[in-house]
Amino acid sequence: MSAAIGARFTRALNRNSLYLLAGATAAVGAGVAFNNYQNGRRNQKQNSPKIWGTLAAGGAGLHTAEVQKSPQDYQKVYNAIAQKMQDEDEYDNYIGYGPVLVRLAWHVSGTFEKADNSGGSFGGTYRFKKEMNDPSNKGLQNGFDFLGSIQKQFPWISHGDLFTLAGVTAIQEMQGPKIPWRAGRVDQPENTTPDNGRLPDATKDANYVRNFFARMKFSDREVVALMGAHALGKTHLKNSGFEGPWGAATNSFSNEFYNNLLNEQWKLESNDAGNKQYNSKSGFMMLPTDMALVQDPKYKKIVQEYAKNQDVFFSDFAKVFTKLIENGIEFPKNIKATTFKTLEEQQ
Ligand code: HEM
Repeated sequence: MSAAIGARFTRALNRNSLYLLAGATAAVGAGVAFNNYQNGRRNQKQNSPKIWGTLAAGGAGLHTAEVQKSPQDYQKVYNAIAQKMQDEDEYDNYIGYGPVLVRLAWHVSGTFEKADNSGGSFGGTYRFKKEMNDPSNKGLQNGFDFLGSIQKQFPWISHGDLFTLAGVTAIQEMQGPKIPWRAGRVDQPENTTPDNGRLPDATKDANYVRNFFARMKFSDREVVALMGAHALGKTHLKNSGFEGPWGAATNSFSNEFYNNLLNEQWKLESNDAGNKQYNSKSGFMMLPTDMALVQDPKYKKIVQEYAKNQDVFFSDFAKVFTKLIENGIEFPKNIKATTFKTLEEQQ
């Protein structure tokens, strides 16, 4: 299937088929491990023909970004990921790899702990078994395996850069906002892998959500904006014990999540795993932590604003996603953000 036709086909099929297709099993890659699975700082030592940015002194315990490549090099990585998303569009019943790549970028970043600057996207530690096997990360292996061939093609890129760049690529290729992205994360050794249990529990309420994100210094507005990513993809019983999509356009980035939160009629029900989730007649679902955004009056006001105005949501989302994937990292002034062109814009 040609790239452009493939993308259109995926979106059309996905929009029309909604959740009906989702009962079937997802395609699971055989698991091509990255070739430099445990190679610490290998990235810096090889394949650096051009020094684009240089080292600068770190401050306040932050990790300092280092860069060896040009914006054009990163655009090549973007293009390879975007093309592969189009070529392998049948994944997860034609939702495609976009959502799982966004979730991967969020989970590798969401381990950040401000108190000691541990976790986060900098060290690329998701590549180690301890983090990969965190029960909260079930299903993300598919995103990691998808990126294996990209990493082989561009062996100079660090895992942290690859995971976050893939999230940005996925959002932009799914018609989301432009997300200026900065390079320079450096692979760290296995002993820096954060312990399991740092990612959020979906069964909880608004207080929990607020406290959870306070750890990473996110405001109410930032939390509501971030959660809008749940317009994408779906929950899978075998991964999380929840089942179903949040909306109709599961591979098209939009403010649909907020509109569905406000406009669908939700019923709290037990699913096949015995977990409680909110279901609507349209076949959509919400996690308890999603529903917290309309149960809490402060959150609800922001949900209403984003439901009315997609442009404001897009602009806020782009800023907060950048903050998420850059948590704990200090970027020297000479490392400038790259704004990637989508594949469509390059045609
Ligand atoms: C309180 C915070 C959050 C909770 C409890 C939560 C929980 C979940 C759960 C349970 C799933 C289903 C996983 C599966 O069964 O495959 C999921 C999927 C997803 N989450 Fe979240 N999430 C949260 C925040 C976020 C944020 C901040 C983002 C991104 C900015 C995000 C992006 C996604 C995406 C794109 C998927 C779909 C993945 C797919 O289709 O494979 N989530 N989330």
